[in-house]
Amino acid sequence: MIIVAPSILSANFARLGEDIRRLENAGADWLHIDVMDGQFVPNLTIGPPVVADIRQETSLFLDVHLMIEKPENLIPAFIEAGADLITVHMEACRHLHRVVQMVKEKGIQVGVALNPATPAMMLENILSEVDLILLMSVNPGFGGQTFIPSVIPKIRKVKTMLEASSSRAYLQLDGGINNNTAATVVEAGGNVLVSGSYIFSSQDVKEAVQSLRELA
Ligand code: DX5
Ligand code: ZN
Repeated sequence: MIIVAPSILSANFARLGEDIRRLENAGADWLHIDVMDGQFVPNLTIGPPVVADIRQETSLFLDVHLMIEKPENLIPAFIEAGADLITVHMEACRHLHRVVQMVKEKGIQVGVALNPATPAMMLENILSEVDLILLMSVNPGFGGQTFIPSVIPKIRKVKTMLEASSSRAYLQLDGGINNNTAATVVEAGGNVLVSGSYIFSSQDVKEAVQSLRELA
C-alpha cells in the first residue's frame, strides 16, 4: 500500500487550517510537517506551537520531519505537541542511537533521514530500531526542487537491506515527487511519498493526491 504524505511546506501558512482541510478532503494519508532551523538547512519554518495548533485542527497522522541540529533538545516539545512520528537526520545526530531510543521511549514512531550524499550503508546499525527510513531526493531546505535521480539505486539498496533484516519499516521519499517521478520511486521500493509543490500547485488537489497513488 502506498501512503501519500503531502508536505505543508507549500501550503499558505496564513491559511493553514483551510489548506489542511483541503488535504483531508483530497484523501491524504499523512500530513508531512517540515521543521527547519536555519542551521542544519538554510531556511526556517515552524516550531512546536504550530504543530500543537495543527493537532487541534486534524486527526491526520502527523509525520514530523526535523531538519534541525541537536534534535534531542526539541523532541520532547514536538511529542508534547502531538507528533505521531518524528524523523531526525542522521547527519544532525552525533548519538543517533540515543536519539532514536529517546523518541521510542515516549511511545511514538521514529524515522531516520539521509541526505542525498549520505550512503545507504550508514543505516546498517540503526535499521532494526526504526519505523521509517526517509531518503531525501533533493537537498533539504526548500520545496519545489528537482528530483535527484541517483536516489533510485539507493532506494533499491535500502529496500534490500530492510528485507534482509526482516524490517517492516516504511521507506519514504521526499523531494521532487510528482506525476513524473512517483512511479519510478515506487517501482524501486518506496512506499511513502512526500509531495509539496506538485500537490499544492495543482488545480485539483484531490486529483493530484490520487494521481500519486494511482501512478504508484
Ligand atoms: C524539503 C522538504 C520537503 C519538501 C518537498 O527540505 O523536506 O518535504 O516540502 O517539497 P517538494 O515536493 O516541492 O519537493
Ligand atoms: Zn520533508
